[in-house]
Amino acid sequence: MNSLLPVLLVALVNLNFCSQSNPGHLKPFGSVGSLVNIEEIRGNYVDVLKLFTYYLPRSEPIVSRRVLINEESFYMWKTDEKLENEIRGLAKVNIYADSLSNSQRIQMKFGEFLDRYQNEALYFADNVPDIFRSHLTVPQPLQCPAVLPVLQSAILVMNGINSSPLMINEEYDSLACLFRGNKQFVLVNTDKHPDTRQIVMTDNQQAGGSHFNPDKVNFNQFPMLKDVDYHVTNLTAGDCIFIPVHWIFHERSFDSTIAVVYSIHHKQALNVDLNEVQACSNSNKYDRSFTLDQVDFSSTGNEAPSLKDVIINLVKSNSNTYDKWLETLSRYLSFDMSSDVETAAIFDELYGILDHDGNGEIVMSEIDLIDGPHQHHLSDLLYEMFELVDRKQKNKSTKKPPAQKEIDETDEHLHLENYKTDL
Ligand SMILES: *[C@@H]1O[C@H](CO)[C@@H](O)[C@H](O)[C@H]1NC(C)=O
Ligand SMILES: *[C@@H]1O[C@H](CO)[C@@H](O)[C@H](O)[C@H]1NC(C)=O
Repeated sequence: MNSLLPVLLVALVNLNFCSQSNPGHLKPFGSVGSLVNIEEIRGNYVDVLKLFTYYLPRSEPIVSRRVLINEESFYMWKTDEKLENEIRGLAKVNIYADSLSNSQRIQMKFGEFLDRYQNEALYFADNVPDIFRSHLTVPQPLQCPAVLPVLQSAILVMNGINSSPLMINEEYDSLACLFRGNKQFVLVNTDKHPDTRQIVMTDNQQAGGSHFNPDKVNFNQFPMLKDVDYHVTNLTAGDCIFIPVHWIFHERSFDSTIAVVYSIHHKQALNVDLNEVQACSNSNKYDRSFTLDQVDFSSTGNEAPSLKDVIINLVKSNSNTYDKWLETLSRYLSFDMSSDVETAAIFDELYGILDHDGNGEIVMSEIDLIDGPHQHHLSDLLYEMFELVDRKQKNKSTKKPPAQKEIDETDEHLHLENYKTDL
């Protein structure tokens, strides 16, 4: 009894100390602490040579202010009415919207989305629909012919009031351009603070549970946030921000916002021909008639075998039952998921979502639903499943000879990287 008391006291003191020493405890992510203003330039995009020789390789964010306001169509993004008036047929375009409240995808017409998204916490995040593409000028640095091939995708993001989960991109640098509204950004460099990476993982694994709450950061639960630098900026319609690969980012919007996010394949971007980039920089050309409909994204696929292909093959080969899927994915991962309760449970959930109509088989029309990078819930589940398998394999392989283990790890790492791109 006597010996227990000091232990308790020490524990209590530590707890107190911990929360009191962090003025950001239970405050919004990045609102208190070491705040660093992100560098910005006004009226111009970042020079393409500087982007590819400094910001991108050195992993530094930068904001370009007021670069979209001279686009001919800039005004049309201002309200939903203007969008519907300017873009003939927009209301009838078929889309999938995502629901914030229950992580579901809902098929609807764009017009219906515009009627509903503000009141029902729906958001749109998908490849820029064709109908918008001729209205979007490719940002100046990406117009450089040497750079275009490393441009992987352009995603339109449209939402109402929102506080996003923490996000991180492991393969792409992003250029996010805001066409409507205001967004607060908070970025953390995980290369400088590797521990923080864990927060995003925890977030994925405990969806709905006691996960990271960006509006009320619990420093007792996430002590790795104690000494980090938060890089902050507020974007207004017309501004673009360059978010480097491996940076955690969080967005908060207090009104309706529209953004287009351009993804740049980081590894490929490190190998662009700098002489050609130099030439683009010297000429400083900016062709406002070079719009997104003139960009061929189909050529930017990566050569690595993809999980999506595995899935498509499954569907085509009559192997579309639960057991076949489990068996094939187990083979793909070299891990018997059926004999492991935890991974099997995740697979269960995954299959339930893919089998949209619940008839026990997955057909092509259901697979069509999983196309695009917007599939947050599905890719979260996949990530969770792969990561768990990865960890368990590593755990097991610690008993193997070291050389073998290393090969396994690299291999798995590649798998992990690939499928994140694929979905
Ligand atoms: C962003 O806007 C918020 C709310 O107006 C303000 O409190 C904050 O200081 C701003 N941050 C920066 C970096 O300007
Ligand atoms: C790793 O193995 C140990 C002992 O075999 C076990 O206690 C632990 O739960 C395993 N970890 C994971 C992530 O499976």
